[in-house]
Amino acid sequence: MLSTKTVEDVSFLGKRTLVRVDYNVPLDGDGNITDDTRIRCTLPTINHILDGGGIVILMSHLGRPKGQVRPEMSLAPIAKRLSRLLHQEVRMAPDCVGDEVKDLVKQLRPGNVLLLENLRFHRGETDNDPAFARELASLADIYVDDAFATAHREHASVVGVPAILKPAVAGFLIKNEISYFNKALEDPVRPLAGILGGAKVSDKIKAIMRLLEKVDKILVGGGMAFTFLKSMGYSVGKSLVEEDMLELAQEIMGKAKEKGIPFYLPVDVVAAEAREEKAYPVVFPAQEIPEGYMGLDIGPATITLFRQALSTARTIVWNGPMGVFEYPQFSNGTFAMVDALAGSSAMTILGGGDTDVAVQLTGNWDKIDYISTGGGAFLKLVETGQLPGINALEHD
Ligand code: 3PG
Repeated sequence: MLSTKTVEDVSFLGKRTLVRVDYNVPLDGDGNITDDTRIRCTLPTINHILDGGGIVILMSHLGRPKGQVRPEMSLAPIAKRLSRLLHQEVRMAPDCVGDEVKDLVKQLRPGNVLLLENLRFHRGETDNDPAFARELASLADIYVDDAFATAHREHASVVGVPAILKPAVAGFLIKNEISYFNKALEDPVRPLAGILGGAKVSDKIKAIMRLLEKVDKILVGGGMAFTFLKSMGYSVGKSLVEEDMLELAQEIMGKAKEKGIPFYLPVDVVAAEAREEKAYPVVFPAQEIPEGYMGLDIGPATITLFRQALSTARTIVWNGPMGVFEYPQFSNGTFAMVDALAGSSAMTILGGGDTDVAVQLTGNWDKIDYISTGGGAFLKLVETGQLPGINALEHD
């Protein structure tokens, strides 16, 4: 089971704390934040440090500027939003390292919050350059990681700094993520059902393999289902298929069978001649998708089958949409799964990426027990049971 020391194990009184957060939030063309979930998720940790008489220095990346200063990827709009959420001024640093930043840090007093500029304006961040990590570490007395969505990256602020700056502990967001991950996959109330969707088998292959070691049943939808269907000799028309994964798909299903794990695939699909907004939807049996059609969502009989399969589960873990839910005519499958989870008495845990966007769209986010803030990080945690950013922290 994963566990680390947390902010509850440390005294912040009069100390400067460097907090790695993930403020990689979506911005519109005018620099407005369109979803501030990742900012709000860090408030408990920031408030805990401030209430304990500490000084908070926040650091994050935004986008992938690749070592260049890109004004449109500045964290300045985030400092403004955070000021409103915290009801106090959040100072914005002009950079994340250098003399000017050091001077600003010296002026900070208990109760103050400073946000450093985008870490990825320096190559040292993604290169995990020790000199860059040392510069960051020199700004504070304590390191806290609350950037779950970045915990799969071996970057300076994620693994380099905590190797130097101690104590190095988890914030409440990471603590929560670990706790729900443990409840879902390390010590679940059974039966445990895993739902996997999304476009490609190749993206999720390790996660499927790992899930087969853990779950009692597995449901597969989304584009990746067609590789499995084709491997069974079905006609899938021009649906997305990874030809080089066909053999592996057979192997996976064979392994599930060997272990006695029911492996559910779509029995019908909503298909169209093209993946486009105005495409006309037609339902076909999953075995007989005509040439010229591609499956873009699970069909109504599959929704019933999947609902039934989930009805006896006591823990459900879901990653990846069931179809192209951006277009209303192909959104029923994904939204029906959200409904099934929202109405279930099972412990429901959802792993980031597009799946959480679908949940937000249905307005059902408060009926899911836990929605992970990590896309890639969640998947990596499922695949390997650990993350570099969590390994870098102190353990009990
Ligand atoms: C994310 O949004 O998944 C994280 O912020 C990590 O971003 P990255 O994929 O650019 O490292």
